Amino acid sequence: MKKIAVLTSGGDAPGMNAAIRAVVRTGVQNGLEVYGVPLGYQGLIDGKFIPLGPRDVGGIIQKGGTFLGSARCEEFKTEAGRKTALRALNGNGIEGLVVIGGNGSQTGSYLLSEMGFPVVGVASTIDNDLVGSDITIGVDTALNIALEAIDRLKVTGSSHQRAFLIEVMGRKCGYLALMAAIAGGAETVTLPEIDVEPEEIVKVLSEAYERGKSHAIVVVAEGAKYNATKLAEYFTKHHEEIGFALRVTILGHVQRGGSPSAQDRILASRLGAGAVTSLLKGEYGVLVGWVNNALKTTPLKDVVGKKKQLDMELFELARVLD
Ligand code: F6P
Repeated sequence: MKKIAVLTSGGDAPGMNAAIRAVVRTGVQNGLEVYGVPLGYQGLIDGKFIPLGPRDVGGIIQKGGTFLGSARCEEFKTEAGRKTALRALNGNGIEGLVVIGGNGSQTGSYLLSEMGFPVVGVASTIDNDLVGSDITIGVDTALNIALEAIDRLKVTGSSHQRAFLIEVMGRKCGYLALMAAIAGGAETVTLPEIDVEPEEIVKVLSEAYERGKSHAIVVVAEGAKYNATKLAEYFTKHHEEIGFALRVTILGHVQRGGSPSAQDRILASRLGAGAVTSLLKGEYGVLVGWVNNALKTTPLKDVVGKKKQLDMELFELARVLD
């Protein structure tokens, strides 16, 4: 193998740049030519390959986002789109591809590898819903951003005796919400994995008010049955039972834009380097992840279409500690 390419796909995650840097530098050290593909799978379809050397990826390890750009590419979901991408890869003499991304992106990796192309995925999404990695690139930073927001909202909440509904990202996975709730000492949390009715939250808030708390925090997962906007509508009608005045903060993409934490930079560096090692060993069609404190490869066929299970004991812990 002489030429490999790397792309970032789907929602960006803090640490993607560190992963690209690791792919480029590990590749070059092993005698490979490395090319960056701009804008994810769209760049592949368009046949765009930018030669990258060690100096081209200098000064990016501390930057959030992805300097290659990313996209959710509809065309790559079609067989015609993937065939065009395959022609571009072969036509440019690329012999291996590293795809840094989450669930949707690794579905793309799998489909491309099923067409016979050597692909290795790197587990990267703030949602932490990917089978094949206990923790994915970007999670730690996104979680700490949520935590900082909670800490700040507690301060202003205490001044006004308010309750805050804080909606965090995570798509259909409650990992970020649950961990933010535990680490942020929230009164309660809602998750996609378990239905929590608004009446239960009203009860928790009114009890906290009766106990004399100066503020209350409800962490709401964006994929929960009731998102923050729906809950707020309900609470407006029941504000007398709650006691606290209520405010809503939707963190949204703020969580994705941070400078990667030390943990994310290190994880991304390990996974990026691991992906190149896999390609060099001829181990294709796999996701490189972090499992039980070590690098692990999992066949992409065992990753796609699945969702990592949330440890529900932690949900109980969040309830006990509220
Ligand atoms: O998958 C990462 C993620 O940030 C999810 O948490 C969120 O639901 C989604 O992407 C948002 O997607 P977009 O950036 O396309 O709005």
